[in-house]
Amino acid sequence: MITLQDCRALDAKDALRSLRAHFALPEGVIYLDGNSLGASPKAAAARAARVVQQEWGQGLIRSWNDAGWITLPTRLGDQFAPWIGVDAGELVFTDTTSINLYKVLTAAARMAREDAPGRTKIISERSNFPTDLYIAQSVCQEYGLELVLLEPEEIAGALTEEVAISMLTHVNYRTGAMHDMAALTAAAHARGILCVWDLCHSAGAVPVDLKGANADFAVGCSYKYLNGGPGAPAFVWAHPRLINRFWQPLSGWFGHEKPFEFVPDYRPAQGIGRYLCGTQPLISMSLLECGLDVFTEAGKLGGMAALREKSLALTDLFIALVEQRCAGHGLGLATPRAHEQRGSQVCLTREEGLGVEGRNSGAYAIIQALIARGVIGDFRKGDGGTGRHKDILRFGFTPLYVGFEDVWNAVEHLRQVLESGEWQGPQFNQVNPVT
Ligand SMILES: Cc1ncc(COP(=O)(O)O)c(C=O)c1O
Repeated sequence: MITLQDCRALDAKDALRSLRAHFALPEGVIYLDGNSLGASPKAAAARAARVVQQEWGQGLIRSWNDAGWITLPTRLGDQFAPWIGVDAGELVFTDTTSINLYKVLTAAARMAREDAPGRTKIISERSNFPTDLYIAQSVCQEYGLELVLLEPEEIAGALTEEVAISMLTHVNYRTGAMHDMAALTAAAHARGILCVWDLCHSAGAVPVDLKGANADFAVGCSYKYLNGGPGAPAFVWAHPRLINRFWQPLSGWFGHEKPFEFVPDYRPAQGIGRYLCGTQPLISMSLLECGLDVFTEAGKLGGMAALREKSLALTDLFIALVEQRCAGHGLGLATPRAHEQRGSQVCLTREEGLGVEGRNSGAYAIIQALIARGVIGDFRKGDGGTGRHKDILRFGFTPLYVGFEDVWNAVEHLRQVLESGEWQGPQFNQVNPVT
């Protein structure tokens, strides 16, 4: 039986506890949605004021040089590179994950067409995040390829010589299940398949070693676990062995070898810099630096090994407390119990038909009732009981700012919401545009 005192004892010996002070979290809120939009670093407000008032306001166009705006995408890439197992000079922050995915999938499709023209397929997971599938559909149309969607357990067996590209998200957004990147990449390479990894739910959340796994391309966002702010620029990486081969389909002037020579012909920059396209959102990109600076602090307190240990302890605790205190309310677990298969979130399912008047699962309303109490998680829709995917109550555990007592309190609120039936109120059953 786990008690509140046990949770407080875990907080007391938490070596990362001091990092929470870097975040401007509102009083009375337990924030379990850092897997969707990370919390605001306290330094971001002053940084925003500096970039608007001084760099833009006073520096004006001189700030491209004087404030280092021109090098910010690569400087931030260098700062974050070790957290995903790559080297300085190989990573840039730019554009969005969707756009970066389009760039790298196009590059991979062109390389596959040159090296292995008979290959006709891109494989991915049916429950991959939809933008990945939509972008892949577009690349398939352009390159005459077919997108094949698989269940996770079918992937290893589907790595055949017909496949040009494997496009997988390392940690699944709906379940929190994590693939074995090294094993899948090795198996794919053994069949001559290029591997593209989406790290949206992995970067800053779980250990990632792209070069150790010998991956080909990776993309990911910075507004989740990196706490870069809403719509903050994403990152893109290509293995240096591909450096002079990968194509940039969006051949804008920022990816040119000499943008300020203003020549009429496009010549791609050497290296990852070619994945820049046009002028970047400098205000947003400047705030991302505040998020990455907290990782620099975390690096002094044990780095990713310490973050991972705490993340697993938080998710283990949440699962155990939900099972101990919320039994009998139709909740299930979508997230793997095995540590090596788990990201930094826990996804609970709820059976279809348990909602108000048996209309749905009630998961959406339960999340709304929790949010009204200050416990912020989110809801992801299932397929209405017709197939494999149930409605999901999703809770992200960011070890930078979530504590063990928070977990206790969140589960206590969940227990009260379920036992009182307050989630059945009409105000919680009104579906908002963003869930
Ligand atoms: C796996 C994955 N890929 C991509 C995205 C979103 O991409 P973008 O930042 O282009 O909207 C998300 C957003 O949650 C995601 O979970």
